[in-house]
Amino acid sequence: MAVGIFDSGLGGLTVLGAVAGRLPDVPFVYLGDNAHAPYGVRDPDDIFRLTCAGVERLWEEGCDLVVLACNTASAAALRRMQETWVPEGKRVLGVFVPLIEALTERQWGDNSPPREVAVKHVALFATPTTVSSRAFQRELAFRAIGVDVEAQPCGGLVDAIEQGDMILAEALVQSHVEALKRRMPRPEAAVLGCTHYPLMEEAFRVALGPDVAVYSQPSLVAASLADYLGRHPDMLGPGVASGFLTTGDPQAVSARATQFMRRGIRFRAA
Ligand code: DGL
Repeated sequence: MAVGIFDSGLGGLTVLGAVAGRLPDVPFVYLGDNAHAPYGVRDPDDIFRLTCAGVERLWEEGCDLVVLACNTASAAALRRMQETWVPEGKRVLGVFVPLIEALTERQWGDNSPPREVAVKHVALFATPTTVSSRAFQRELAFRAIGVDVEAQPCGGLVDAIEQGDMILAEALVQSHVEALKRRMPRPEAAVLGCTHYPLMEEAFRVALGPDVAVYSQPSLVAASLADYLGRHPDMLGPGVASGFLTTGDPQAVSARATQFMRRGIRFRAA
């Protein structure tokens, strides 16, 4: 009954932590494509190819349902995967929709027409590829009207986090928030639209100030996955064991993951 969690690297561990906490009886298999991270500067065809390969590997582990715990893959590849590639009996879900449903005050899976919502000025922080895909604005437009979104491509931030350089990562958060605030001085809400960014959530909160509501994905994705599995228990695949796979160097990736998540995590080669 396992579920797969995919990310380009270590960012998806923030989502894994939340879903595993919410669904303690479900085995989760995590796959980080560390050999090819970061995705945020790759082109959509490349991201489609790499994401399909990672998802197929998770299917081999008995995970019929895979969550792309990666906004860049969700933005650049998910729609194409769902429309052209995912076979009968398998499912791939992304991380955008739960976030946008929370921002637009919707119940999970409410597909009623777009309407006015309380929040009017939203700052989006994401990778360059996610920002240029405009997937966030597209999904938002299906659900809400009159929301102004200012997006900041946070170049360099995923690399700094993956390399464990938190001093550089903090400096980058500050400069990206300042750059966004020059264009939108008073956002009401800020979306951390990359699963690596919850690792820097405190730095974002400090730089944004106390008046900005920060939307971070892990708990929202966990709540929406619990709801989805309640409605689709058949999507729990045949896998029985949790585990961590990486396309990178298992030793180096395990050390970095242990440092980030502050608990022992051991990856094996994918
Ligand atoms: N953590 C991913 C995301 O949510 C990918 C970052 C990257 O590989 O650039 O966008």
